[in-house]
Amino acid sequence: MIDIEHVSKHYVVDGIAVPALSDVSLRVEQGEVFGIIGVSGAGKSTLVRTLNLLERPDSGRVLVDGSDITLFSKTQLRSYRRKTGMIFQHFNLIGAKTVAENVRFPLKLTGEYTTAEIEQRVDELLELVELSGHRDKYPAQLSGGQKQRVGIARALANRPKLLLCDEATSALDPQTTQSILHLLLDINRRFGLTIVLITHEMDVIRAVCDRVAVLDQGVLVEQGRVAEVLLHPQHALTRALVQESCPQGESAKISARLNLPGPLLRLTFLGAITHQPVLQRIAAAFALGFNIIEGVIGHIKETPYGQITVQVIGAVPDLARLEAAFGEHSVRCELVQP
Ligand SMILES: Nc1ncnc2c1ncn2[C@@H]1O[C@H](COP(=O)(O)OP(=O)(O)OP(=O)(O)O)[C@@H](O)[C@H]1O
Ligand SMILES: [Mg+2]
Repeated sequence: MIDIEHVSKHYVVDGIAVPALSDVSLRVEQGEVFGIIGVSGAGKSTLVRTLNLLERPDSGRVLVDGSDITLFSKTQLRSYRRKTGMIFQHFNLIGAKTVAENVRFPLKLTGEYTTAEIEQRVDELLELVELSGHRDKYPAQLSGGQKQRVGIARALANRPKLLLCDEATSALDPQTTQSILHLLLDINRRFGLTIVLITHEMDVIRAVCDRVAVLDQGVLVEQGRVAEVLLHPQHALTRALVQESCPQGESAKISARLNLPGPLLRLTFLGAITHQPVLQRIAAAFALGFNIIEGVIGHIKETPYGQITVQVIGAVPDLARLEAAFGEHSVRCELVQP
């Protein structure tokens, strides 16, 4: 649906060129939730803003359904932007307008709907974001989560095909973050809306994204399916971001402290196998024990996963056979320490 091709962008600050994006290429498929992660200043906002041309690339192309939006006329761009919603970290609501007026605003701007149509759509949208009882309140009278729900209702007003989310949950507490992410996923599924979401938190990526790209100082350093990137990060920054959300990697130290002999294996489970007694089966088959040193079990979107480091206790068999045995259960087995 969207192809970003070799996009570069710099800003000029005090006469000095500051690169923000360097030769970024990526593809977002229709209907998916695509995450872009990176630390502050990585260029995330700049990248997501090239998707509605709030920032114009210096070079490269942004193709949406095959058309290069950087070549759009004013009229084409206006109608494209109407079909591209955006929500922000600080909500960007109009403080002097009520909830209903904020949502009504983009509908009125089009000049295409009758008053009755507008009112019906506003009702529908407020119901969708569960704010029907707050329609006459002003933004200052709402919690952060409620403000973001207004932001979402407003972004969806003109039935966009694409929703851009710039750190939409960064100002919210963990529980409210979950409820907003839940709402975004629900909208993605119900309306088949494509979502591009930027964040500095791997937990957000894990909860809602199908694929992810990692941006480091304007350079796209890694991209792929969330499970693959999360469970087997390749780039140092990706590893650091994964580690931040889910600390692991102390197993060598822990096993030294325990002073136990035996190799350390890292086992990765993805899907239904996560909840099967694979360890027990393999322990029985090889007459071994496994000492779990550290690990994590959770969900990537709805898919269960686990990644644990175990120490092999007992007469250690040929490791290749052990690896193959885990492999037969679709469990990836890697030697961390011999
Ligand atoms: N309008 C601007 N004028 C000058 N420099 C800018 C402007 N916007 C961004 N930059 C610079 O471009 C780089 C990328 O900024 P960007 O806002 O895209 O990063 P970000 O990943 O969204 O960061 P954050 O997580 O803090 O929001 C940074 O070095 C930033 O200082
Ligand atoms: Mg930003």
